[in-house]
Amino acid sequence: MFDYIKRKNVRAKLKKVETGLIDNVEESFPFIREMAVHIFGGGGKRIRPAFMILITDLLGYEGEDDVNAAIATEFIHTATLVHDDIIDRAVSRRNRKTVNSIWDENVSILFGDYIYARAIEMINSLNNHRLNSAFSRLTLGMIKGEILESDKNFKIDITYDEYYNIIAKKTGELFAGTGSAAAILGGLNEEDEKKFHEAGMKVGVAFQIIDDLFDFIGDESVLGKPVFSDLIEGKITLPALYLRDSDEAGSQIVESIIDEKGFKSVSEKQLEKAMEDRGIPDKVKKESEKLVREGLDLFKTIPVLNESLDLEKLVEYIINRNM
Ligand code: IPE
Ligand code: IPE
Ligand code: MG
Ligand code: MG
Repeated sequence: MFDYIKRKNVRAKLKKVETGLIDNVEESFPFIREMAVHIFGGGGKRIRPAFMILITDLLGYEGEDDVNAAIATEFIHTATLVHDDIIDRAVSRRNRKTVNSIWDENVSILFGDYIYARAIEMINSLNNHRLNSAFSRLTLGMIKGEILESDKNFKIDITYDEYYNIIAKKTGELFAGTGSAAAILGGLNEEDEKKFHEAGMKVGVAFQIIDDLFDFIGDESVLGKPVFSDLIEGKITLPALYLRDSDEAGSQIVESIIDEKGFKSVSEKQLEKAMEDRGIPDKVKKESEKLVREGLDLFKTIPVLNESLDLEKLVEYIINRNM
C-alpha cells in the first residue's frame, strides 16, 4: 500500500491511522470490535486518509489532529460501505464475506451506525468549529446521494446530470470534506478551503467514475467485490449511460439487463464486448482523467502544493489503479 507516497512523515502517520482504526473502537464492545477487525483487517486502499495526511503534511501542519480526522474519514467511508452492502445484498467486500453475510442484517446496520457516530465523536473532540461543519456537511451529502441513487434505481431514462449529482453526493462529498478538513488543519483561510473542497469533489467524482467502470471491466479477485452487479441492481452508471446512448443495439443491451434484472438474453461477455466495441472504457477513463486534472490544478493554486510529486502520484493512482 501507499507505494505512491514517498514522504516519510506521511507514511508514519498513515501507520498510526491503521492501528487507530481498531484502537478507536471501544474494547468494552467485543462484538463491535470483532466486526471492526473483520472489515478493517480485510484491506482497503485507505485513499481518503492518504489524501488527507498528504495535504496536511504539504501544508506544513505539525500536530496530530489530522491522524484522528483521517481515521474519522475512513470510519465514515466504512460505515457507508457496510450499509451499502446491506442495501445491495452484497456477499463479498475486500475479498472477504461482507459484514451482513456473516452477522445478521440488524447487527450490521447498528455496526455501521456505531462507526459513523464514533467518527463524529472523534471530530467533535478536536474542538474545531470549522471541522465540525465540514463533517456534518459531508455526512449529510453522502446520505442524500444514497437516497437519490435508490430513487433512480431501474429508471432507464436517468440523465447525465442526475448521475453526476448522485456520485457527487455519495462519493464526492467525502473527498471534498477531506480536502476541506486538510485545508482547515493546514491553516488555510475559508476561501482556500472552498478551493480544496471543490478540488476534492472533482477527485472524488473521478474516483467513483473509475469504480463504476470496474463494475464492467474489473477483475473480481483483484477488486475483492462482485463485478457486473450495478446494472442488475438497477444502477445506471456512466459506462451504461454511454452504451445506452451509443446506438440502437447498445441501448437494447442496457434495457434488457435492466428489465430482466440480470443476464438472461444478454450475457456478461456480450456486454463487455459491446462496451469495448464502442470504445466506452477509454471514454470513461478520459472523463475521469479530465476531472482529476481539474482537481489537481485547483490544489496547485496553493504554492506549496504546486511542486508536489506525491500529490501528482496520488492522483495518478486514482486513475490507474486496478482495484
Ligand atoms: C468503494 O470505495 C466505494 C466507492 C466510494 C467507490 P473504495 O474503493 O475506496 O473501497 P476500499 O476502502 O478501498 O475497499
Ligand atoms: C459507493 O458506491 C457507496 C457509497 C459511496 C456509499 P458503490 O455502490 O459503487 O460501491 P461498491 O461498488 O459497492 O464498492
Ligand atoms: Mg455497492
Ligand atoms: Mg461500485
